[in-house]
Amino acid sequence: MAFIVKKAIKGNEYYYLNENKRIEGKVKTKTIAYLGKTKKEAEKKAKEIMDQMNKNEMEKEKKEAEKLLERTEISVEDMAIFCKRKGFVYQSADIYGGFAGFWDFGHLGVEMKNNIKKEWWKFHVWQRKDIVGIDGSIITHPLVWKASGHVDSFSDIFVVCKKCKKPEKIDKNDLGKVKCKCGGDFDDKNAKEFKLMFQTTVGENENAYLRPETAQLIFTNFKFVYDNARMKLPFGIAQVGKAFRNEIAPRDFLFRCREFEQMEIEYFIKPNEKCPYEIANTEILVYSAEAQEKNENPISMKITDALEKGVIKKDWHAYWLATELSWFVNLGANPDNFRIRQHRKDELAHYSSDCWDLEYKFPFGWKELEGIADRKDYDLSQHEKFSKKDLKIFDENSKTRILPHVICEPSLGVERAFLVFMFDSYFYDEKRENIVLKLNPKLAPIKAAIFPIVKREDLEKVSTDIFGELKEELNVIYDDSGSIGRRYARNDEAGTPYCITIDEDSLKNRDITIRERDTKKQIRVKISELKDVLRKLINAEKEFETAGKLVK
Ligand code: GAP
Repeated sequence: MAFIVKKAIKGNEYYYLNENKRIEGKVKTKTIAYLGKTKKEAEKKAKEIMDQMNKNEMEKEKKEAEKLLERTEISVEDMAIFCKRKGFVYQSADIYGGFAGFWDFGHLGVEMKNNIKKEWWKFHVWQRKDIVGIDGSIITHPLVWKASGHVDSFSDIFVVCKKCKKPEKIDKNDLGKVKCKCGGDFDDKNAKEFKLMFQTTVGENENAYLRPETAQLIFTNFKFVYDNARMKLPFGIAQVGKAFRNEIAPRDFLFRCREFEQMEIEYFIKPNEKCPYEIANTEILVYSAEAQEKNENPISMKITDALEKGVIKKDWHAYWLATELSWFVNLGANPDNFRIRQHRKDELAHYSSDCWDLEYKFPFGWKELEGIADRKDYDLSQHEKFSKKDLKIFDENSKTRILPHVICEPSLGVERAFLVFMFDSYFYDEKRENIVLKLNPKLAPIKAAIFPIVKREDLEKVSTDIFGELKEELNVIYDDSGSIGRRYARNDEAGTPYCITIDEDSLKNRDITIRERDTKKQIRVKISELKDVLRKLINAEKEFETAGKLVK
């Protein structure tokens, strides 16, 4: 703490700002600044200096706090080990040696995955007027897949590396041009087309497929939903559910699986209809097809500028890219780890005329997280052709029947979203000497852990009552084993945002402490208000420090 001192030298008064500091165990006084010859002048100058010192101190604290928010880099292999150790994800049939491309979600993983899907549905369906949902079947009429083009075109080129003997999938255009990751040449002579749809038999001998995307069920039900939900163009239909692909080389943990879940929207418009929605002014790395073809780097720009300059051709694409990015960022993902990349002509899917991917910087490189394709009227017209049903709708304005276009199809894998939130929240705290999973409370598998400070009947009774009350609404756990420090560490690693301790004072005052995972700060809150406070904290409707009495 700094203080003003007056010194008399040869009959004159001089004022200084001094500070006591402990140096090598001894308290020493150090002069920080000369303040002038009058008391008034000295007080004014001292205030200015001290204000600046406080500001510097606050900036230092802020920088340290920001450093705490930086994720700890971890490889995808180590993430898989962490997920198994904590009960997030196991290899399917692990006790039999696993089964490549199939994963099981454990007691924490299932909660987090459900939370991701719930938040996606809330944001894309409940909070909008123009989107409704469906839940289609996994196995459907095989003609659906003929009409969609999957039977004929949904395939990869299968090659084997001559050196490491590993199978790999490559793009048709890359045959003869690329090498294996190990540096070896592929056996191009024996390259073969590999169909990606899983086949099955229905009844005695009817051939059918497990759906490779959820999208087609939206197209086949399009007309019913339009009529029953009384939708008006532009509008969307959303779906969350399983998809299956017989991937040649499933890899990178959950990134490329054979069984996974998709969260998809087909967004229908009148041909050439303009986007009526405001496009968020988000800055992001933009990688156009042209830049890739010219071997240039992606450039950072506002999505709105990319649209204005014609880098992104359609307002709808700009709108959906910005909207999808905001979903991730609002749930705690780091915007610096995202970029948008346009598909080059040679990589567009058979149904798509333009496609932008939202990409994420995974530990194994920039990869597709979510595809946003312009499918035009490809699917509806194919289903009209194959089903011989009229899927057109009557447009009140033009008084004509039109076949809507899918201007954008935001399509996101749940497992890839799961990885993003895990990577961006994984943090090793050197002071605590344990991992802290800084998940957004909305995504955290367990919302609160309840601890009696020691195992004693009266404390356990209050704790059990609180547990019973909270678990009616939230996924909470009761934990009374080990020291409080161990219990905090266990829950930090599981991403539990709040730990509730019941102590001696709780018996007297009917209150408890809530400890916040990321800051370790604690507040005392009345038991009668606890449920409401937790609800508000999880939904970010209240700041932690003002939600109760801060424990100093
Ligand atoms: N209906 C459009 C469609 O299915 P896609 O680009 O093939 O497009 C969409 O897939 C999203 O589904 C991808 O961006 C990715 O998030 C997820 N996805 C696709 N294949 C996957 C796989 N083998 N494992 C995990 N997720 C996958």
